[in-house]
Amino acid sequence: MSACRICGGNLTEYVDFGRQPLSDAFVKPDQTENEFFFRLAVAMCEACTMVQLVEEVPRDRMFHHDYPYQSSGSSVMRKHFELVAHRFLDSELTSDDPFIVEIGSNDGIMLKAVSDAGIKHLGVEPSGAVGEMARSKGVRVRTAFFEESTATEIAESEGHADVIYAANTICHIPYLDSIFRGVDALLKPGGVFVFEDPYFGDIVEKTSFDQIYDEHFYLFTARSVRAMAQRFGFDLVDVERLPVHGGEVRYSISRQGERTPTAAVAALLAEEDERRLAEPATVEAFGASVRKIRDDLVALLTKLKEEGRTVAAYGATAKSATVANYCGLGPELVSYVSDTTPAKQHRLTPGSHIPVYPPEVFRENYPEYALLFAWNHADEIMANEQGFRDAGGKWILYVPEVRVV
Ligand code: SAH
Ligand code: TMP
Ligand code: ZN
Repeated sequence: MSACRICGGNLTEYVDFGRQPLSDAFVKPDQTENEFFFRLAVAMCEACTMVQLVEEVPRDRMFHHDYPYQSSGSSVMRKHFELVAHRFLDSELTSDDPFIVEIGSNDGIMLKAVSDAGIKHLGVEPSGAVGEMARSKGVRVRTAFFEESTATEIAESEGHADVIYAANTICHIPYLDSIFRGVDALLKPGGVFVFEDPYFGDIVEKTSFDQIYDEHFYLFTARSVRAMAQRFGFDLVDVERLPVHGGEVRYSISRQGERTPTAAVAALLAEEDERRLAEPATVEAFGASVRKIRDDLVALLTKLKEEGRTVAAYGATAKSATVANYCGLGPELVSYVSDTTPAKQHRLTPGSHIPVYPPEVFRENYPEYALLFAWNHADEIMANEQGFRDAGGKWILYVPEVRVV
């Protein structure tokens, strides 16, 4: 058994999802022989309680020029990040010479509003194609992995930052020791490091086990993030629960002693204690709920197939790689997945080899059932696809339990 990636403590393994592909490696139909697989399993550190994967996928296999995920594919997320930008513009970025750095800026979804406001900014984004999209919106991007050396270079060439921000990226990075040293090198005195990621408290509450995949190396709680911050010379000074992506927490971190933690920090820590979130029995019970969802979903899809129903899926999410491969779904149970992302279309889902088609295919000939892989965008998708419902179509959901609506 490996050791905790943060503190070196003992890990206890809880849920094993078996052999899994890279969640964003959509394959060309004639290139299914060379897929990369790893063992996906979740463990918790007995010392610092950090929930983490037991196997690490080399970062260049996941984040490279053709990484397909585009943040701007959701109008709800565009609005969310515009609000984030305006919050920073109105609070942390009001000095004479403000500067914000974003880690994992993707297609510029957040920094565009900062750029439009004429404020100095820099995105650090290793995936080339999405970085190009951000540049075309007027966003400055450095094509690189953020780590200690990148941060030091930025501090030397551009100066120190008031804010370092990251969304859905810090949980992707196993080497957080290097990230924290980088943040320390780049942040102005009194500056703040803010990141938001899927919250383990929501994952347990909703049994949203599909938040567990290669890219999501850590599943954070306030308690594990506070322990990590303290270990690297920082304090957790604020937390905020967010409804996006099925439930996230935004953590604000500053150098030790520089800011007073808000009441929200103590409140969330107390709530986690009360829920026994970091206790073995809770994580074991989560594992049992995961197995029940798998069994129920496979039973439902098998029954629909036997009845001769047509079933497609909606949203070729990274998350759905875990669902499809853990539940053994393939084109015989789910005939295709509808998705708006050009880089995923006319390819096959990783490992499970379900074809991905543009939404026009879905709309031209609705299936009777649609498995909503992008359940985190349910409101937006169900509103856009009212025609499916009007035609008698039914959605299949599996979070927090398997049901047809
Ligand atoms: N912030 C966006 C994108 C999240 S996807 C959003 O919330 O929608 C995660 C992004 O992190 C990807 O674009 C990936 O290329 C990038 N990434 C992965 N490792 C990184 C690192 N070490 N430094 C900077 N970005 C990284
Ligand atoms: P995400 O859950 O990681 O944000 O991924 C959502 C996926 O679903 C992404 O591939 C884009 C796709 N999608 C659609 O196809 N239609 C939509 O309306 C939305 C919001 C997303
Ligand atoms: Zn630990």
